Amino acid sequence: MSIKNKKHILIGITGGIAAYKSLSLIRLFIKAGCEVKVAATRNALQFVTPLSIETLSQNKLYHDSFAPIENIEVGHVTWADWADAFVVAPCSANMIGKLTHGIADDALSTLLLAYNKILFIAPAMNDKMYCHPAVQENLKTLINRGVRLIEPASGFLACGTEGKGRMEEPETIAETVLRQLNANLPLSGKKVLVTAGPTYEPIDPVRFIGNHSSGLMGFALAEQFAEQGAEVILIAGPTYLNHKHSSIQRINIMTAQEMLVETMNAFPQVDITVMAAAVADYTPSVVADEKIKKKESHFSLDLHKTTDILSELGKIKSEKQYLAGFALETENEKENAIQKLQNKKLDLIVLNSMKTPGAGFKTTTNQVIIITKDGREMVGCLKGKDEVASDIIQFIIQELHLN
Ligand code: CTP
Repeated sequence: MSIKNKKHILIGITGGIAAYKSLSLIRLFIKAGCEVKVAATRNALQFVTPLSIETLSQNKLYHDSFAPIENIEVGHVTWADWADAFVVAPCSANMIGKLTHGIADDALSTLLLAYNKILFIAPAMNDKMYCHPAVQENLKTLINRGVRLIEPASGFLACGTEGKGRMEEPETIAETVLRQLNANLPLSGKKVLVTAGPTYEPIDPVRFIGNHSSGLMGFALAEQFAEQGAEVILIAGPTYLNHKHSSIQRINIMTAQEMLVETMNAFPQVDITVMAAAVADYTPSVVADEKIKKKESHFSLDLHKTTDILSELGKIKSEKQYLAGFALETENEKENAIQKLQNKKLDLIVLNSMKTPGAGFKTTTNQVIIITKDGREMVGCLKGKDEVASDIIQFIIQELHLN
């Protein structure tokens, strides 16, 4: 995940039983690749401990306006400048009132007044308090000032009654904030399909034919597409890698046939596809039910060709869909890559040379040449796979005029 795009989120926690859900909220933002800092009121710390907050957010908690944050005397101003979005969840009637009237008498309310970017509040309180004209008037004022209200849900309240006042679920709050932050990204609203890793073709219950693909290139692409605002479907062969971004939906497969099925299934919904997987070209014709014993001095396997998934996609792709593949070559590299681009009806091909030291399988670096169907070309230098992924995606964004 590229650090330059890491979103900075401030979470404010006020006193209310829903404060325990703020811990999940911190986790959700961290999982989505954000950096999180938390400010809490004294009352909030009756419900959740500084230790839980600091452990989950991986940052110091701000709760005492007289103590410097991170050794900075005017830390509240520094934190306010640092943040891309601020969400107060749960937001008490008291904090709504203070914010409306510009009262800054503790760490959180001071930070709120020093902050002038996208602010979300997720109120949580008893239904009668929420409906009180004072609270409703204050909310109206805040909404008019551009504060985004994440309305409380109706349901069972901690005080034992039913009504409107229960804080919205952390998943919904996180989604609302992230959607807003992503709204201006070049690929927001786009669906992307990425395949990654090797396939394993079984011979018997204990053996398979595989390859050295680590999946790093495909995973880097999936992360970077998500960073640019896309919803990503990542179809991954066997790999030890984990995906991080919450906009990535991962489907694990083992064989070329399983990758074919999952890819064909996902393809109609997506705008952009990048086939980075190293799919086996051949698979054993028969898979033995039991472990094959060593008897003869020679042993041969009958293999048959797998379906070329990328070619199948090229045949069915619509005008609006953008299709990219990789070419792994060891000789006549450019000619072969261009041939693949044309034969498989691609919009773009990424040529991976196996000859460059530090490029190709198993390495964390790669060197590629990007070639489009219109003959545009970009020759990259040896870089980390994250950076190569970023170059490929920026190239596609330009091609699609999305920047
Ligand atoms: N590919 C695919 N299905 C296959 C084999 C390859 O979708 N059964 C895709 C790969 O994901 C890659 C592209 O086709 O994007 C090119 O793969 P590569 O191994 O370079 O070429 P092949 O088409 O398999 O041809 P060859 O092995 O003969 O070079």
